[in-house]
Amino acid sequence: MENEDLDELMVCRLDQTRKTVEPCSIVIFGASGDLTARKLIPALYHLYKEKQMPPKFRVIGFARREKTDASWREELRQALDQFSRTKPVDDKVWQEFSANVFYCMGEFSDLEAYKKLGKQLDSFGDPQLRNNLLFYLATSPSQFGEVVEQLYKADLLHKDESKGWQRIVVEKPFGHDLASAYQLNTELTRYAHERQVFRIDHYLGKETVQNILMFRFANSIFERLWNRDSVDHVQITVSENLGVGQRGGYYEEAGALRDMVQNHLLQVMSLVAMEPPVSLDAEPIRDEKVKLLKSIRPLTPEDVAKQVVRGQYFAGMVDGKMQLGYRQEAKVKADSNVETFVAVKLLVDNWRWSGVPFYLRTGKHLPLSASEVRIQFRPTPSVLFAAQCGNKLDPNALTLRLQPNEGISLRFNGKVPGTSTSVRPVRMSFSYNSEFGAYTPEAYERLLLEAMAGDATLFIRRDEVEAAWAIVDEIRKGWEGKPLTNREFYSAGTWGPMAADDLLAQRGHVWRNPQPVT
Ligand code: BG6
Repeated sequence: MENEDLDELMVCRLDQTRKTVEPCSIVIFGASGDLTARKLIPALYHLYKEKQMPPKFRVIGFARREKTDASWREELRQALDQFSRTKPVDDKVWQEFSANVFYCMGEFSDLEAYKKLGKQLDSFGDPQLRNNLLFYLATSPSQFGEVVEQLYKADLLHKDESKGWQRIVVEKPFGHDLASAYQLNTELTRYAHERQVFRIDHYLGKETVQNILMFRFANSIFERLWNRDSVDHVQITVSENLGVGQRGGYYEEAGALRDMVQNHLLQVMSLVAMEPPVSLDAEPIRDEKVKLLKSIRPLTPEDVAKQVVRGQYFAGMVDGKMQLGYRQEAKVKADSNVETFVAVKLLVDNWRWSGVPFYLRTGKHLPLSASEVRIQFRPTPSVLFAAQCGNKLDPNALTLRLQPNEGISLRFNGKVPGTSTSVRPVRMSFSYNSEFGAYTPEAYERLLLEAMAGDATLFIRRDEVEAAWAIVDEIRKGWEGKPLTNREFYSAGTWGPMAADDLLAQRGHVWRNPQPVT
């Protein structure tokens, strides 16, 4: 049998029983915003192009500005030309798709506007398009409560889902601390059931992040090494080449800890470290993630001083170009203490990971944009090669490259050919591109599809978001009233402040920086 036939036979489809997506209407609140133009409409267009949208659907943009259906479609078309992942945009497909796109002008606080929205939905003349509703809240979190309340009052949202189904998709930031996240959750669940709330973390929409569970639990060789007996430590790096750019205003309120660690990094960590779920359904997977987050050892302010490093970039060269320091960016205070870099050592107090440090780091204006998980295995015993080579004998490591250059590589030692006995690290590599071709759907395509299908696996549950905030709150408490010190600044274009290296050096570890794609 040809290899390819074998591959075909070996594909195990886990979603054979996946329910088909029923006809529905997607209502986007905050339709004039950046997210709609950059992500949501391009994602829906591609889903349509790839015949993944339900047989019947409508998209309604709800926002304050005065627009007609035609002018909104025109605006979206221009944005699509710019942001579509496939270019040029297929005109015929766009015409067909955009015939389903409508605009509803209204204030979020005005009940009448919601009633108008209801009439618009009635006018589609189809009970499924009228009652199966995906409300996408691309708004500021301070408006979540109000929108949900008005939807309920306008008879568009039913907690018991007595008429069709209604779901609410919310974007980050989901609160700015545990108390505000709790408050938001309370507001949302006053009018909607928790199972109707879909909290986005776009990292979960990435193929490589989803593959973490497949990699761990569909293979027998790695999982048995996945514990304190074999793993020395884990490094999770999400580095970004860009600075805060035009988002200074938002960033001043957020900082790297809230913007990246609370969500993306802790999500990746929980997938890497969680126990096997009892099934692949949404709740068992989310139960395990919550359990993991709750096993992370709480940090006292003294621990924060020892285990967390923050940093802020000053002017420096990135890719051969001089970049402004954070304090010089638009809408940033000249004496801002907001962190653009965080490195943290977390310990997990459970049977599997006791004593294994998890180092997480993220930052803006680092040398390159890359997200990686590195599982560093324990060194070999100090006999034979290790005795002779000392720390020149690199311990084995497994690197999951989440982006770019998506793939996985295993580093091990091999004999250098020749008469002398020398050993050096070599690599076994898997690349998504060479194995599967350049299939790179945007995270939002997958997430919108899952939300329409009602599968919450890739969304964050209430207790999960709260557990993550509890960790971040402890860190913020440790920083309270402490302005940045000189040791906490780094030049744009470097791998963060020196203190981040010292953090690992405490245990004899070093950061392994992602390599540029060649
Ligand atoms: C967002 C953050 O959630 O993630 C941004 O708000 C960050 O600051 C972005 O740049 C990174 O996402 P990605 O998919 O480019 O790694």
